Order: sequence, then structure tokens, then C-alpha cells
Amino acid sequence: MNAPRSERLSRRDLLRWTAAGALVAGAGAAIPFTRDVRTAVLPALPAAKMPRPFTTPFRRPPVLKPYQTGQDATGKFAKYAITQKPGLASIVAGLRTQIYAYNGIFPGPVVELEQGTRAMVRMRNKLPATHPRMKHPYHTSTHLHGSASLPQYDGYANDVTMPGYYKEYKYPNFQPARTLWYHDHGVHHTAENVYGGLAAFYLMHDPAERALLPQGEFDVPLMVSDIMLAADGSPNYNDRSHSGLWGDIILVNGAPWPVMKVKRRVYRFRILNASISRSYRWALSTGDPLTVVATDGGLMPRAQQVSEIRHGNAERYEVLIDFSKYRPGQRVELRNLSNKNNVDFANTGRVMAFDVVDDKFTTVNNRIPTTLVPSPVMQLTEAQAVATRSIRVQRTNGHWALNGQTWEEVIASDFRAVLANPDYNDVELWEITNHSGGWFHPVHIHLIDFQIVSRNGAAPFAFERGPKDVVYIGENETVRLLMRFEHQRGRYMVHCHNLPHEDHDMMHQFSVGLPDGAVDPNDPVSADKPITDSLPPDA
Ligand code: C2O
Ligand code: CU
Repeated sequence: MNAPRSERLSRRDLLRWTAAGALVAGAGAAIPFTRDVRTAVLPALPAAKMPRPFTTPFRRPPVLKPYQTGQDATGKFAKYAITQKPGLASIVAGLRTQIYAYNGIFPGPVVELEQGTRAMVRMRNKLPATHPRMKHPYHTSTHLHGSASLPQYDGYANDVTMPGYYKEYKYPNFQPARTLWYHDHGVHHTAENVYGGLAAFYLMHDPAERALLPQGEFDVPLMVSDIMLAADGSPNYNDRSHSGLWGDIILVNGAPWPVMKVKRRVYRFRILNASISRSYRWALSTGDPLTVVATDGGLMPRAQQVSEIRHGNAERYEVLIDFSKYRPGQRVELRNLSNKNNVDFANTGRVMAFDVVDDKFTTVNNRIPTTLVPSPVMQLTEAQAVATRSIRVQRTNGHWALNGQTWEEVIASDFRAVLANPDYNDVELWEITNHSGGWFHPVHIHLIDFQIVSRNGAAPFAFERGPKDVVYIGENETVRLLMRFEHQRGRYMVHCHNLPHEDHDMMHQFSVGLPDGAVDPNDPVSADKPITDSLPPDA
């Protein structure tokens, strides 16, 4: 396609930066946000110092208390305050790992609330102006992944909050219960920012899920990620020319290969793949099946027993495991059988271990249900679709692209270019094809949930027969997705969730219910701007 002149310029400049390893003076003027493509790879942690699997105790991330709760004319609300700031993690004995994270911890604090309670989150950026080692500007944009938020609260890539500012995000929480997560979405630096620690759970409950599935102690979030450490304990970053970063240490809730004590009953695990590039294929060491009960958008119509789950970046699968059939003292491992085009290391096939203990437990929801809840999107039929769109994920001119276009082109269009412009409430069928050969792409559509109608012309995998917002598009695969453009009007992103792909530059947008040329009252960049933070650094 014929890119506008400024676009061609910035691309050529980019190549020059890569070759020279430094920013060429004057080139940055063509684009509003610089992309520092330098990688900062330090000598690797020696093998002898690597943490050993199943020696670190499992831990849960802390739940964040709201600083205020109440009720107004619209209903119940809860207000939270979170600060993005430096912190130190301990992954390797004797070394400290510098992170930049929500409240300085990784994973960040968990927001946990009931459907029907709106949330306001005051998100402060108290990060350094530029990343001390990676040198990119430390402006951030916070996306609540899984929420039908208004465009100006959706973490639009260019709606950035500078260090020293805050933004008050508003979340509606009217959707079916689900496992959400909040993470950085800052333009061109999402990968480094999430890798550096900006990721956390957000769990929304509702009566259906409260009645069917294990709760409290037996409802366990598992954020799985990977990291490569330098000899000094700091995170190394090498995205292999923007194809992806594959670490040699697997973290679950920030702990390397942890071991968890489990009682002899049914547990619910909310598994989130928060790795920036790695995909997983889960299996139990016993060969027993996993029961999948919920996907990205919450409960599936029916529970699915599977022996393996292929799990791409940002997807969420809720699985039940019944430990009652194992004897006390037995160890069950969650393993990763991996997928094509991951880079694997000695211990990346191991994830975490469960040690069965004979302790007492409550029997509430201690069962494996079969029939669950058919969420509205799972009841859509292809006959309802008023449009069918084809989208190609591919590599074009050295960039990852959607239908040959990149986010750089969306920026160059002053955020007017769109991939699709459905009317409000339209049902559409999107056929997405992987034209990029030896790569998989987990594609995420903001705002809506979709149903996977088919994968390569056949039925989707059993574990993905539920409401989804990310779809794993494997090598040479084609998926057909059915969705209704509801909840909000405005512009939302669609992108690959392999974050180096997203940043370089496999991201586009669609516009819901906005007539051509109409003024957008919910402009994602200008409708609600960040505010100067007058509070002292430690507030
Ligand atoms: Cu989880 Cu647009 O991101
Ligand atoms: Cu991709």
C-alpha cells in the first residue's frame, strides 16, 4: 500500500536507528512518540545461580482495599488508588530485581469486586522520566483487559500519562463475572513496560459464578510469565528483532516455579498468560484431565474436560482440578508442553507443583459442574451477522501489520484510520488469517467478547468454546469470530498480544457507532486528560 510521506520517512528513520543503535537527530520530529529500539542485554545470570523449580512457596498477590466505597444515584461504587513506581523483587537468592510496577510490586495489587459496583481507579505515574536502563520515555496508559470501558478509560495507546501525572480511570463492571487484568498499553513501549512489572489481576464476581465455582481460598489466580535475568539480578530484555522475548525462568504470581500446598478437594485456578511473547500448553503430570469452566469473558455454556490447553498471551482460562483423588503427600505438577515457535529452555516445561495435604476444608462448591451459563455472545448465530470482514495478520516491510497497516499509520491519520466501523449493536463475522508463516499471533479485540465459530473450517478446540476476547491464531490458521458491537460507542484498539509485535506495529482500531465526520464525545485521547499530580512522591 502507499503510505503517506511522513510514514515512509519514519520507517526509513527507524531502520537507521536500528543500524546505528542510536536515535538520528531530527528524525524523531516526524512522529509524536519516539521508539527507542535499543535493547539492553547484560551478561546473563550464570546457570548455577538459577532458581531451582519447586523450592519457592506459592503466593497470592495482595487484594487492594478501596479508599472509599459508597452509593450514588447510579449505584454502588468503590474508589481505588494505585501508584506506578520502582520496586525490588526477589527472584534469585541473594539478588534483587529492579521492577517498575503497580504499587512497586509484581504482580500488582488485585482489584476484586462484585458485578454492579463501578470502580474509579486513580492511577499515578511516579516512574522515572525515562527507563534508567532501556532509556524509553516512561509514560504509561492503563488498559483494563476484559472491560467494556469508555474509550477514554480503555488505555488507548496514545492516551499516555506522563511521570508526575495521574489519570482517574472509570470502570463500569456490568458485564458477566470474569477474570480481568490491568496492564500497561503505552504506545510503542507496552512490551518493556509490562515485562518490567506493570501487570495485575482484576477479578469481578457475580451471583452465577459465586453459586457454581469454588470461592475464597479455593479460587486461585495464577499469573504466569517468563523472565530472563542478568547476572546482577536485573531483568534482561532481548526481543530478537521484535519477534518476541522468551525468558528461561517461569514465574507464577512473580515466584519462580512455586510449590503450593493443596487440600483434598476441588480448586479453581484462574490462569492468565501474562508473558509478553511465550505461549503455553498446559497438562498435568498425572495425565488427568483439566476441567475448563470459564474463558476470557467468563463462564462457558458447558464445562469441558481436556488433557491439554493451548494458551496464548493475555488469554484467561479458569480450570478446576479435583485433588481429592490424590493421596496426602503426593505431588502433582502443572506442566508446559509448549507450542511451535516458542524458544524453550531447560526448565520452561515446568510451571508449578501442588503438594497434597490432609488438612480440613469447607465443602462449599466442592464439585465439578457440567452445565454452566450461556453468556449472550455464545448465543449469536452466523445468520445474525450484517457484515463479514477479512483480516490478515502478516509481516509487511519489516513490520508486523494487520491488513498491511500499522499503528504508525493510525497515528499519521490523526487517529482517523479504522479497520472496521460497525454500527452500534451490529453483529459481525471476522475472519482472521495468519499470513506470516512461522509465527503465532494472539489477536485481541477490545470492548467486546466474541465467540470462536471455527478454526481452519472445523470446530474450535473444546477449551475455547466460551466467551473470548483474545484468539490464538497459530501458524497458517484461519479463525472465524462472531461478535456484537455493543456496550459503548467510539474507537477501540485491535492488536496482536505478543507485545513486541503490538509495539512494532501490529495494532489498528475500529470505530463503533460513530457516523463519518461526527464529533466523538468520548475521544480516547482528549476526552479526559491526565492531571498534574501535586502529591509528594511517596503519597
Ligand atoms: Cu491486554 Cu490491548 O490489551
Ligand atoms: Cu503477533
